[in-house]
Amino acid sequence: MMTTSSMVNSLLLPIFACALLVATLSAAAAGSFNNDFDITWGDGRAKILNNGQLLTLSLDKASGSGFQSKSEYLFGKIDMQLKLVPGNSAGTVTAYYLSSQGPTHDEIDFEFLGNLSGDPYTLHTNVFTQGKGNREMQFKLWFDPTKDFHTYSVIWNPQQIIFMVDGTPIRVFRNLETRGVSFPKSQAMRIYSSLWNADDWATRGGLIKTDWNNAPFTASYQGFNADACVWIGGGSRCSGAGTWMDYEMDVTSQKRMSSVQSNYMIYNYCTDRKRFPQGLPTECTIN
Ligand SMILES: *[C@@H]1O[C@H](CO)[C@@H](O)[C@H](O)[C@H]1NC(C)=O
Repeated sequence: MMTTSSMVNSLLLPIFACALLVATLSAAAAGSFNNDFDITWGDGRAKILNNGQLLTLSLDKASGSGFQSKSEYLFGKIDMQLKLVPGNSAGTVTAYYLSSQGPTHDEIDFEFLGNLSGDPYTLHTNVFTQGKGNREMQFKLWFDPTKDFHTYSVIWNPQQIIFMVDGTPIRVFRNLETRGVSFPKSQAMRIYSSLWNADDWATRGGLIKTDWNNAPFTASYQGFNADACVWIGGGSRCSGAGTWMDYEMDVTSQKRMSSVQSNYMIYNYCTDRKRFPQGLPTECTIN
């Protein structure tokens, strides 16, 4: 069992270390896709346009496409605006996520599962810590995500990970290390995104296949902003600090999150008792 003072130390030390880094270093956040990202696959299907202000991914029968951030981040508030594949997007998946590398990697996922015209997209989220995921929560959205750009954000600090849609928190994963749940806090993550064909499972569990007559499918990105700590050569350079680094949801934000979860959540691993017959994961049993 942990003594009270070692618990306090293990909570305060990382926060203190980060505050020091934040106080001594700062970096500019604004940029362009040319400066911040590399196109990693798709053989010309991913394009950076408008002087670096717009990025498009496309998917056709031969291939999807993807990009990744040049930088690795360890904590931050990371915003990206996405406009998803319009029309009949069934079978397509647009993945947007942060991930570290290796078998014990950490990962923070947004995945957008396409649908038939008029049927709602599913926003699928997950959190991996130390290589272990199985923490899916799925939502419908309260708008058509294919008509306009909407902002999908992650606030990741030593206390919690918050998923946000247009500034509304939809999900939080708290740091419950003191209760034996691992939390991503020491492995830097890159940002990744890809558009690919997953018609073996994505839409109504794989029942509805991609209609290649509609190809190429295109998703668009703009307005990237990272107020974050950039991990460089074993050290961290932070920007926009003081706001996100110790951000906690206030009562209003918590109410907005509860309202989204009761109105738009369509799957929650924390209530799936059939899936966890030996008992729900620890983080699900702590308020
Ligand atoms: C697609 O639409 C159907 C019908 O509304 C719905 O059941 C399903 O959850 C939607 N999303 C996916 C990814 O299949």
